[in-house]
Amino acid sequence: MNLSVRRRTLALAGTVLAGLLAGAVPATAEEAGVAAAPDISVANVKQHLADLQSIATANGGNRAHGRAGYKASIDFVKAKLDAAGFTTTVQTFTYNGTTGYNLIADWPGGDTNQVVMAGAHLDSVTSGPGINDNGSGSAAILETALAVSRAGYQPAKHLRFAWWGAEELGLVGSRYYVNNLPSTERAKISGYLNFDMIGSPNPGYFVYDDDPVIEKTFKDYFAGLGVPTEIETEGDGRSDHASFKNVGIPVGGLFTGASRTKTSAQVQKWGGTTTAFDRCYHSSCDTTANINDTALDRNSDAVAHAIWTLSSGTTPPPGKVFENTTDVSIPDNGAAVTSSVAVTGITGNAPSSLPVGVDIIHTWRGDLVVDLVAPDGTVYNLKPYSSSDSADNVQTTYSVNASSEVANGTWRLRVQDRAAQDTGYINGFKLTFP
Ligand code: TRP
Ligand code: ZN
Ligand code: CA
Repeated sequence: MNLSVRRRTLALAGTVLAGLLAGAVPATAEEAGVAAAPDISVANVKQHLADLQSIATANGGNRAHGRAGYKASIDFVKAKLDAAGFTTTVQTFTYNGTTGYNLIADWPGGDTNQVVMAGAHLDSVTSGPGINDNGSGSAAILETALAVSRAGYQPAKHLRFAWWGAEELGLVGSRYYVNNLPSTERAKISGYLNFDMIGSPNPGYFVYDDDPVIEKTFKDYFAGLGVPTEIETEGDGRSDHASFKNVGIPVGGLFTGASRTKTSAQVQKWGGTTTAFDRCYHSSCDTTANINDTALDRNSDAVAHAIWTLSSGTTPPPGKVFENTTDVSIPDNGAAVTSSVAVTGITGNAPSSLPVGVDIIHTWRGDLVVDLVAPDGTVYNLKPYSSSDSADNVQTTYSVNASSEVANGTWRLRVQDRAAQDTGYINGFKLTFP
């Protein structure tokens, strides 16, 4: 499961409910009966940063992998989550001869087959306390997790938060987590949201250009604030989302900039100066003074907004399904046969990615040529003949660019068997209009 744009189909057994469906789509989260995300207190987020700063100060000035300040950071975050009712797990790994730690916190409930995950690396470099990089992301997801608990939020999907170790040494902790996650568990992660540096002192507002639904969720939030965003380009793959993206999990995230220089166009847009987004990146001056409160506030609210929105489980508006399930036998090495559906009640043309559901039972599918025939007779080949494809059955959904076709009318699935011996029948044909 993932969060890509997808409309839920509704089996209407070939009937048309266009009139009934029109206007049934909720326009806002409130109309849909979905709780809106709470406003995240930037004061609370800043208190977590002050606590992380104190941990660094008490431990030689950093919170780096293998140093006492890192484990103390893990203990600090874990205690808050345990008190708030999360189920926490500390995962250990070894890197550079020292033990590293990931902290995973699950919020009990929700559909564990659909996990919405948010993560941030908790380690700093050895040269400083790592307050913007990445106390900021760590504190924002911590406060969001605590807000989930305070709200008694019961999302449709399951929520999981993670604080990664040894990101600064090459995404080590997140890669360890993903590598040790069975593929069945990976498949349950609907999306992973990454927050690494979200309070830069001379901030930009960057959104990762990855999963389109996650990206839109963030962009919509900032658009609502009237804050322009740009696509993150300062090194894609330079944070823990890469560990997830590499195994095909949909990802997204926010970023306010690291060592790159803000352009004058960006200064026009966001204010600040034409200097580095974070002049203290990876330096001893990445302290609590190295935070832009407005950026931290907006991004923390965006974190909560995305987590609430992506986990609430609002059902997307139903598509309109036209289906024919009458069996049509396909003569062996013979003439083409068709199964048809009558599409009515759709305004204008068919979509540029029309889902065409094909269900053909056959003992050697390579024999078959399968076409979609539009109402005006235009033919779209779905599957060519192939002498070598000896597999059974054609059971799949093709996507057809049918945007030059008027939607209403009779559409046909045309199937011809072009080689002797193996045989079969059309079991079903289905078109889904948005
Ligand atoms: N922690 C990251 C790093 O040290 C910071 C970073 C740089 C980053 N570029 C990024 C985070 C782009 C997200 C996206 O590399
Ligand atoms: Zn870093
Ligand atoms: Ca045949």
